[in-house]
Amino acid sequence: MRILVINGSPHPKGVIANLLKAVTEGLSQNADIEWIDAGKLNIRPCLGCMKCRRDPNGICVLPADDGHVMGQKLRRAEGLIIGTPTYWGNMSAQLKLIFDRNVPALMGEKPSGTPLPKHKGKPAVVVTACTTPWPFNWIFAESRGALAAVHEVLKWSGFKTIGRLAQPGTKNRPGASEKHLAKARRMGEKLNRF
Ligand SMILES: Cc1cc2nc3c(=O)[nH]c(=O)nc-3n(C[C@H](O)[C@H](O)[C@H](O)COP(=O)(O)O)c2cc1C
Repeated sequence: MRILVINGSPHPKGVIANLLKAVTEGLSQNADIEWIDAGKLNIRPCLGCMKCRRDPNGICVLPADDGHVMGQKLRRAEGLIIGTPTYWGNMSAQLKLIFDRNVPALMGEKPSGTPLPKHKGKPAVVVTACTTPWPFNWIFAESRGALAAVHEVLKWSGFKTIGRLAQPGTKNRPGASEKHLAKARRMGEKLNRF
């Protein structure tokens, strides 16, 4: 299975990166894994012109940048492993930029106007981390907000979210915890069975 891993954190070796790495450790040897650090990409923000939606190939009108490259990678992916730090109870801007620039790679519209998911039935897992300690990360929709925001993209794209993980309290206990790393590995193993 061709798995695209997107680290939505600007830290290539942060908590999110470690959790994502643990998910990939659970994958079988046969998995074809590609890892992208969103923070290293050069992507202009979406203009909101909607021209990509009318283009038969769904291509963005902006000059060539990593937004286009990510579109090709998303189209080819058979499974997604997405990580984002919780920023303002949401996904990171770095990650959202990839999704904003690539709506037609993910979903279309039927002539009736109803959404047309382009990745129906493919599996995805999502991990996040935040400084807010448990249970406030959940009560105040910090990590819950970030997971829900990514799920929104995945849902309309047709991906089935088969695993979600949120590590709270990263200020007082920096680094990925053993408990969360173990859960991340199990999520990778679950992806194999899909
Ligand atoms: C711009 C910004 C916004 C943030 N917003 C939140 C937030 O809403 N809630 C929270 O608990 N932590 C928030 N944080 C803290 C990060 O989620 C936390 O440091 C996380 O562990 C970072 O993971 P990383 O090191 O893998 O990037 C924010 C950090 C930044 C830089």
